[in-house]
Order: sequence, then structure tokens, then C-alpha cells
Amino acid sequence: MVRKRVLSGVQPTGALHLGNWLGAIRNWVELQKNHETFVCVVDLHALTVPNDPKILSENTISTAALYIACGMNPKECSIFVQSQISAHSELCWLLNCVTPLNWMERMIQFKEKSIKQGDNVSIGLLDYPVLMSADILLYDADLVPVGEDQKQHLELARDIAQNRINSRFGTKKNPILKVPQSLILKEGAKIMSLTEGNSKMSKSDPNENSRITLLDSPDLIAKKIKRAKTDAEVGLEFDNPNRPEANNLLTLYSILSGLGREVVAKECATMGWGEFKPLLAEATIAALTPIQSRYNGLMNERDELNNILKIGRDQAEEVADATLKRLQNAMGLLSRS
Ligand code: TYM
Repeated sequence: MVRKRVLSGVQPTGALHLGNWLGAIRNWVELQKNHETFVCVVDLHALTVPNDPKILSENTISTAALYIACGMNPKECSIFVQSQISAHSELCWLLNCVTPLNWMERMIQFKEKSIKQGDNVSIGLLDYPVLMSADILLYDADLVPVGEDQKQHLELARDIAQNRINSRFGTKKNPILKVPQSLILKEGAKIMSLTEGNSKMSKSDPNENSRITLLDSPDLIAKKIKRAKTDAEVGLEFDNPNRPEANNLLTLYSILSGLGREVVAKECATMGWGEFKPLLAEATIAALTPIQSRYNGLMNERDELNNILKIGRDQAEEVADATLKRLQNAMGLLSRS
């Protein structure tokens, strides 16, 4: 039986945090068991915000190592670096030429990020979701496991594939691109900031106490949790819209401890914050310690890591080049042979 295909990626813009792991990578680890899975480090996307070149390449390797440390198995999936496969940029151009500008101006993340960049908004930032569509469509992905914040970008990829490529250049019987579906977990799809329960945990938040990164030391984790914003009530509960911090920290605890929502809701129903926070810190440290020790081992084996990325690149390139060629032909570009 042909396995369904999965594609996803994370930007190497800084240390990955609990949101990236619990909202996305955790899901990839399960999916790789019975899907053909491609995961890439999307370094071209990282260029849309100001970057130090040395730090970018180091972050790219470190992000790949974290994928593996979190449980991505190079024997079961393909792990690669986006910029090493030129088809991503080439497909992006083809898609650019059929995507209306006003679709891009509507993108929520573009609006948010462009406010922060003031007069320096690059075309790359505007075009970012088209590049992301190219990432997905190149692999004929059936499923794209992401956190909730990527939902609108996934809709765009579907729209481009269906309404701008297949309906113009393909036929019903012979569509050119596969129309992908997003896969968003029920729990963990939107992990919130530790310092503001109504904002999502984000790599770009200037306040480092707002997030726990996968590489934070046990002391730092305990400190960040101790400082996390709370409210004045005793007894913790899920889903009370007036208590976003309680919902977020309980969600973290239920996933990281592995106890699940029901058990945690009961255990914490009468608990005060002073009793709860050490429990959450302990569960977080216990969950991250094995990831950190695998990560440290991998970062000391650079040759091995580079070899994994090379194998992943070869596997990915074969699929990507075939899709690119299909679309080039359909759009009337003269083939090379
Ligand atoms: P990025 O790098 O911002 O985030 C990577 C993944 O982590 C998820 N995520 C979260 N999930 C839950 N709670 C949070 N607070 C949280 N913050 C981030 C994101 O939803 C994402 O799944 N555009 C993408 C990268 C990308 C991509 C792709 C993803 C480029 N091409 C193709 C999938 C397929 C991004 O910026 O993710």
C-alpha cells in the first residue's frame, strides 16, 4: 500500500521552544511511523528577518540535530535543508506568477511581522507564504503537520494548487499538484507565552522569559516557570477564558507529564500556584533532559549529522525535481532534453 506523504519544517531563527516541539515536531514523530515523511530546516524562510550569516548556518545544523533529538529517525524519514534543493526557489517563482498580490497582503503573519519591520519590509517577507506553498507542493504532500498559527498559510497552499495551477494548467483527471491538508493537533497546537497568556509562545518575543527553549538548563527552566504569569485564584482549571495562564500551564503540564487532561484537571482542581509550579518545572525538566543529552551527542558528531542531511537531500531532491519538471512542462517552459 502506498503510504501517505507528510512534509513539514521549522525556521532556524533561534532555539526551538516548547511550542515548536509540542505543536509540530511531536506530531511528526508519530506520523513518520506510517507515512513517508519529509522534514526540512527552512533556512530560506529565515532570511526574511535580519540574520547574522554565521549564526544562521549554526542554527540550521542545530535545528536538524533537534529534530533527531526529539525523535525524528533518519532511517524512517528524510531530513534536509531547504536551501540545498534549488527546486524550492524555482517552484516559488512559478507560483509567484499566478498568485494575486492581494492574497498575500491578507496574510496575518505578514501584517504582524511587517509592522515590526517598519520601512524595511522586504519582498521576501511578503512572498514567504508562496515559498512555503512551494515547500509543500513540491513533495505532493498529503498532510502538513503544523501549529495553529500556520493554518492560513496552509489554506493559501491549497488555494494556489487548486485554483491557480490545477484548474488552469491541469485537468480534473490529471491534476498537476496534490492539494494538501493541514494536520493540527487538538492539544498543544497553540502554546502561549509564559509572560502573557493571550500571546503565543514565539521565538521572536524579545522577552526570553516568555518561552522555554528545548536547550534551557534545568535551573533556567525552574526560574522561568517560577516567574511565569499567574492569577490570584486558587484551584487550576482548563478552558476558562478569563484564566488563559491557567489553561496554558495546565496544558503544558498535562502533555509534558504524560498524565493527560482528565487526570491533571482532577489533580490540580484545588491546587494553588505555589504547589503547582514545582510540579510543572519537574515535568518539563524530565521531558527535556533526554532530548538535550541526545542533542549534545549529535552536535559532537558533525560528520554523522552532515551525512544524514546529505542522504535526506538526495531523497528529497528526487521527488522535488520531478514535481518541478511536471509544472514547468504544464506551464509551457521548454524542457531541457
Ligand atoms: P515556525 O518556524 O514559526 O514554527 C515551526 C512550527 O512550530 C509551530 N509553532 C507552534 N505551535 C504551537 N504553539 C506555538 N506557540 C507555536 N509556535 C510555532 C508552527 O505552527 C510550525 O508548525 N512558516 C513556518 C515554517 C515552514 C513550514 C513550511 C511549515 C516553512 N515551510 C512547510 C510546514 C510546511 C514557520 O514559520 O514555522
